[in-house]
Amino acid sequence: MKVYFDNAATTPMNSEVIEMMTQMMREEYGNPSSTHAHGRIVRTHVEEARKKVASLLNCSPGEIFFTSGGTEADNMAIRKSVLDLGVKNIISSAIEHHAVSHTIEEVCKKGEVKSYLVNLLPNGHIDLLHLENLLQNNANTLVCLMHANNEIGNMIDIDKVAQLCSQYNALLQCDTVQTMGHYAFDLVKTPVTFLACGAHKFNGPKGVGFIYINSKLRITPLITGGSQERNMRGGTENVYGIVGLAKALEISCANLDQDKLKIQSLKSYMMNELKKHIPGVLFNGDPEGSSLYTVLSVNFPPTPIAEMMLFKLDIAGISASGGSACSSGSNVGSHVLTALNIGSDRPCIRFSFGKQNTQEEVDYVVTQLCAMLKINQTQSN
Ligand SMILES: Cc1ncc(COP(=O)(O)O)c(C=O)c1O
Repeated sequence: MKVYFDNAATTPMNSEVIEMMTQMMREEYGNPSSTHAHGRIVRTHVEEARKKVASLLNCSPGEIFFTSGGTEADNMAIRKSVLDLGVKNIISSAIEHHAVSHTIEEVCKKGEVKSYLVNLLPNGHIDLLHLENLLQNNANTLVCLMHANNEIGNMIDIDKVAQLCSQYNALLQCDTVQTMGHYAFDLVKTPVTFLACGAHKFNGPKGVGFIYINSKLRITPLITGGSQERNMRGGTENVYGIVGLAKALEISCANLDQDKLKIQSLKSYMMNELKKHIPGVLFNGDPEGSSLYTVLSVNFPPTPIAEMMLFKLDIAGISASGGSACSSGSNVGSHVLTALNIGSDRPCIRFSFGKQNTQEEVDYVVTQLCAMLKINQTQSN
């Protein structure tokens, strides 16, 4: 059996998206910047895609700029806030994605911009009181907090964070790479400055994403060159990717409730099965609280095969992601698990689910885990 439980890394593409993209690849090859008919028709497709994305987020098409993915969008928001918007302080957390944390490190290198980490509660959620305290004491601030953490699934209360940022006049960059297409967004109700997204996390193509930039703000391009994306990103557009992204988002949003119900129940089922069969198993983050329904970070009791577990899963046809906390003195390992003070002796595996996964797959994975941990599954039934 082959099981793909690594949907937080990337998702399989939706077949309707593949069909739409391949048909366009066959039929439309104009450059959207060309003013002749071949170009104009492709330009129309790109602008329709932009309108579709904007209507799904309840924002204006002029606020959506296509990028090469979430990483570029995160970079653009952070670097341009500093260069163009006078940001002098950046508040983030120790569990942000490297697309955010490494970019913050870069912009703070010269010492002209200061960075602050908001405290984490024991369950990995951000301490909102500390966030407010940091906001009270710092002007010209950008807050960078991810909507959902890709390793442990913890979600922030984006409405509350947006409200605090508005109250203290701070800009808000929210990495929504793991939540776009999985949760409904209404940017009129949730005022943020920037959102970063990548299509491959919602059954769209890789190498394409977008940044939402609130129209109240004006920044200059991160990638200079041509006048594409209304002068905001140089380079010929990834037109097939853009069209595929919009189609994938449309499909995800149309099926959001039913997919969520299905995936959430798979996650709960796997948690229950693991608790039933593996003594001492724990879960990282807050999986029964405010948590991304696609992600389950399992924390196994210490075992001599800790370092072999992912490999053994792979041999059994199971794709998942690994990581334990960094052991002392080493940078290797997960900065997220380290920030949560999870012992490096406990192997952690992230299982992340998609709409294509089934309960039989969960059963198979649990059986394989029991076998490798030498647990007699019939006795624990
Ligand atoms: C939370 C988060 N932010 C950013 C990224 C990077 O996105 P992309 O692969 O589209 O550049 C990822 C991808 O794993 C992610 O999970």
